[in-house]
Amino acid sequence: MNVKDQYLKFFESKGHKIIPSSPIIPENDPTVLFNTAGMQPLIPYLMGTPHPLGTRLCDVQKCFRSNDLDAIGDSYHHTFFEMLGNWSLGDYFKKESITWSFEFLTSVLKLPKERLAVTVFKGNNTVPKDTESAEIWMNLGISEKRIAYLGEEDNWWALGSGTGPCGPDTEIFYFRSEEEVPEEFDPSDKRWVEIWNNVFTQYNGNGDGTVTPLTKKNVDTGMGVERITAVLEGVNDNYETSIFKPVIKKLEEISGLPYEKEEVKRAMRIIADHIRAVVIIAGDESKIAPSNTDQGYILRRLIRRVIRYANRINIDIHSDFDQVIAKMFIDSYKSYYKELEKNENWILEVLHKEKEKFSKTLEKGLKEFDKILSKVDTEMNAEDAFHLYDTFGFPIELTEELAKEKGIRVDIKGFQEKFKEHQEKSRAGATGRFKGGLASDSEMNTKYHTATHLLNAALKLVIGPESHQMGSNITDERMRFDFPCDHKMTEEEKQKVEEIVNGWIQEGIPVTHYEMEKEKALKSGAECQFPERYPDLVTVYQIGEISKEICGGPHVENTKVLGHFKIKKEEASSAGVRRIKAILE
Ligand code: ALA
Repeated sequence: MNVKDQYLKFFESKGHKIIPSSPIIPENDPTVLFNTAGMQPLIPYLMGTPHPLGTRLCDVQKCFRSNDLDAIGDSYHHTFFEMLGNWSLGDYFKKESITWSFEFLTSVLKLPKERLAVTVFKGNNTVPKDTESAEIWMNLGISEKRIAYLGEEDNWWALGSGTGPCGPDTEIFYFRSEEEVPEEFDPSDKRWVEIWNNVFTQYNGNGDGTVTPLTKKNVDTGMGVERITAVLEGVNDNYETSIFKPVIKKLEEISGLPYEKEEVKRAMRIIADHIRAVVIIAGDESKIAPSNTDQGYILRRLIRRVIRYANRINIDIHSDFDQVIAKMFIDSYKSYYKELEKNENWILEVLHKEKEKFSKTLEKGLKEFDKILSKVDTEMNAEDAFHLYDTFGFPIELTEELAKEKGIRVDIKGFQEKFKEHQEKSRAGATGRFKGGLASDSEMNTKYHTATHLLNAALKLVIGPESHQMGSNITDERMRFDFPCDHKMTEEEKQKVEEIVNGWIQEGIPVTHYEMEKEKALKSGAECQFPERYPDLVTVYQIGEISKEICGGPHVENTKVLGHFKIKKEEASSAGVRRIKAILE
């Protein structure tokens, strides 16, 4: 049994319900591009909304962190990674959490407790020193010398935005070295690697550095699959674990170079990491394709980076190396993430098309880059950076990375101004959002959720019964809805949809919900965009005889509170898919 299955089985035996991974692209949280932690899809429940499966949950969550693509290339950073997590939603707290982590590591994974050490929160103005956790650790046999008290930088966990569930944490370290284990734990000694983080989410971050206690005390833990696998397999490089080894071997074969020199290792790690991430992102049900904004831009950067590093280690970039590697990852992950099998052709096509596009200009672009650089002393100007972007498809981050290797800066600000000027679209908006944040469950938000179900139902009447939700995104200001349709909607069709939805609103139809087994719900005709995302027991929201959908809510109680529904925009989203933006006024 692999560590993911061992983990889920263990926490199931402690009364946890196993929930499926949420999609890597959050469905109803427009403030972030990707799920960055296991807790992210669970935020409403950590904030107090009851979860249909109870108060103890565990899962393996697909996560993606893109803050710093430059960090990829060492032995332990990844963009995409899997996070093992277990949660208490106002149920157990420090004692059980720490005890079970210890039990899992020492009894199930059989890691010797002599190689473990922990950090706990040393306290600040508002939250006291966490002596409780330290005592629990000592009672389990962790010596006092192996416990370090650290401050907020190390032992306080919150989302990048500083808002949402947060709290002090205790981190578990493992001594990963052949050398003798020191008696005293020194957290700055790199031979100690962090393997698990148990956060005691008792607070809500207000975004200004202050926190407010939550009504319930929760636990949120996270353990990276790649890291723990490296520990279990006794290797110091995540890329030498069974997760990556076959891919690295394949890259050695294709390039004819051994995984030995630092430069080659770095290139192979980047290629492996990025292709794995592309497989997961392009494989997501929301069918992301490379573009110049949001997730599509990340996808583009990942693929272009793969090509550039393949080129560096003499891989023929016109060969099908990318398809071969992608296929290996699809095969190794598809039993966990069923959507990969279904979307295999799409994934391979995304990779292929983007590669075709970029590989044509890469070599010329690199020559042009060298030419530009030969004239530059310390900083490349915005015109040149924009020229590389516009003519050769060099994402600005790529130009910056190439320049940095030669000790040259790039006028990024100037580039962005130019970019805005030319494209009338700033990518800055997209990157700014990485820091994360939370979608609010405000009144408007709730209303838009219900209006989305009404729109979905109305489109079936106007466009045809085969119309269905292919994507949805809600903010406090508007709703967005994607559906299959082979033509631009006519004025009449739009008007008809508005009339139908507003008619239902005026009728004042009650919105009810009930729990049901997923299979039964689907059989009974309940709709669901991502059935694989839901657990076996689901909540079905029903609006009179009009709509029945599997959904996590929240929804209003009666359609009469929605106000007036208006379509603001109808446009193409991708081939055969239309997108409606609508408001409630
Ligand atoms: N949310 C915590 C983390 O990501 C567990 O480390």
